Amino acid sequence: MRVTVIGTGYVGLVTGCCLAEAGHTVVCVDNNEQKVTDLQNGIVPIYEPGLADYLTNNISNGRLTFTTDTAAGVHQAEAVFLALPTPPQEDGSADLSAVLSVASQLGEHLPDNYCVIIDKSTVPVGTAEKVRAAVAEHATTDFDVVSNPEFLREGLAVQDFMRPERVVIGVTSKRAEAVMRELYAAFVSDDRPLLVMDTATAELAKYAANSFLVTKISFMNEIAQMCERVGADVDMLRQAIGYDSRIGHKFLYPGIGYGGSCFPKDVRALIHMSDHEGYDFKLLKAAMDVNRQQQNMMVSRIIDHFSGDIVGKTFAVWGLAFKPNTDDIREAPALIIIDALIAAGAGVVAYDPEAADNVRRLYKSQEKVSISGEKYAALNNADALIVTTEWAEFTKADLHLIAEGLQQPLVFDGRNIYRPETMQKAGISYYSVGRRPVLL
Ligand SMILES: NC(=O)c1ccc[n+]([C@@H]2O[C@H](COP(=O)([O-])OP(=O)(O)OC[C@H]3O[C@@H](n4cnc5c(N)ncnc54)[C@H](O)[C@@H]3O)[C@@H](O)[C@H]2O)c1
Repeated sequence: MRVTVIGTGYVGLVTGCCLAEAGHTVVCVDNNEQKVTDLQNGIVPIYEPGLADYLTNNISNGRLTFTTDTAAGVHQAEAVFLALPTPPQEDGSADLSAVLSVASQLGEHLPDNYCVIIDKSTVPVGTAEKVRAAVAEHATTDFDVVSNPEFLREGLAVQDFMRPERVVIGVTSKRAEAVMRELYAAFVSDDRPLLVMDTATAELAKYAANSFLVTKISFMNEIAQMCERVGADVDMLRQAIGYDSRIGHKFLYPGIGYGGSCFPKDVRALIHMSDHEGYDFKLLKAAMDVNRQQQNMMVSRIIDHFSGDIVGKTFAVWGLAFKPNTDDIREAPALIIIDALIAAGAGVVAYDPEAADNVRRLYKSQEKVSISGEKYAALNNADALIVTTEWAEFTKADLHLIAEGLQQPLVFDGRNIYRPETMQKAGISYYSVGRRPVLL
């Protein structure tokens, strides 16, 4: 099929590359000229494992092209994906300005053939209808709007797109459903189904999925708080409940809270939506409060350890991305911790394998934050190490080099990547989440 993807960020670029890999002919459109030039030259502007090969292979075989020109991008399309940002507004609602402004441009440029316009962005209930109205203002040809929320995980995005656990589509016509079935034929199977529903259900499903995961994270963070108070071990507790097949093992890891470009904004958007409908979504509001509390917890613990004063101290921070295997720092807990340390008078030397450049740009005028190109170098004479992202290279780090590099062997682990017993043996004082501290 001839497909256009508008917005080539984390979702749009993966969508475009994977659809091309499956045999579709894809034009990707973005209004960021530098990004389009890079992509035309086979340069992936984000860190996403596996994406570079798909990009270069499909540019070479002619199935994948990039442009900044929306009109040229859509003039032959049978399907147009909107993978545009929907950031939170001040009141928590999703900002639909990019989606709706592109939708109204689309009306003028639609091809002569029937075309399906697909909301891939995470959008509130009712957006499919708004997009339809915006396109219809100028459209002279036949089109339908489909809601097709994306469930991929950054860091595993290629794998998730190529082998999705399910594909959700919200449709208003059989004709649009047929196009979507053809588009996704290579990706779905009996055990990886394409689920067809109305647009409101599809739109709400994405918010429900992320909100459920957030609730699970906050629940475990509260259980971790209880573990600390009663002297229980959250690692063993996690297994004790995780082996119950009704509960499962995933998303039972306590830490310094969730962040990223999706969870925080999607939770706020669902709360906003439910408030708007006159429904008080208490559970989700509590999950969000718990997350805030959890993000502040580690800094309070650090300040308490130094008897209430960290002025002039220096902390090594390992991990800046909001999770491993991505360079995405949007709403990353590490940044909240860094800001709090600076506000309390401390300095930071930070390291991340992939997100360093993004953070360097962010703190370029903040002299109390420096970014190290090497993890052990970041430790150099710091007062303690704080682990904020569970990159595999931190999990496998040499504990002796950590102990030797710091002014004193002291680690605050916001992701529970080390075992307290191991740290004790290595002679390192160690604070983690939901487990007894090691105080030497
Ligand atoms: N990142 C994720 O893991 C993820 C997962 C599922 C769903 N989503 C949702 O997908 C949507 C996109 O998220 P993302 O992370 O890919 O965002 P992103 O910021 O990485 O990408 C958006 C892209 O759109 C481009 N753009 C902005 N305005 C434009 C315009 N008017 N015309 C053309 N291009 C324009 C930007 O230059 C950018 O390249 C959001 O609604 C998000 O909630 C994201």
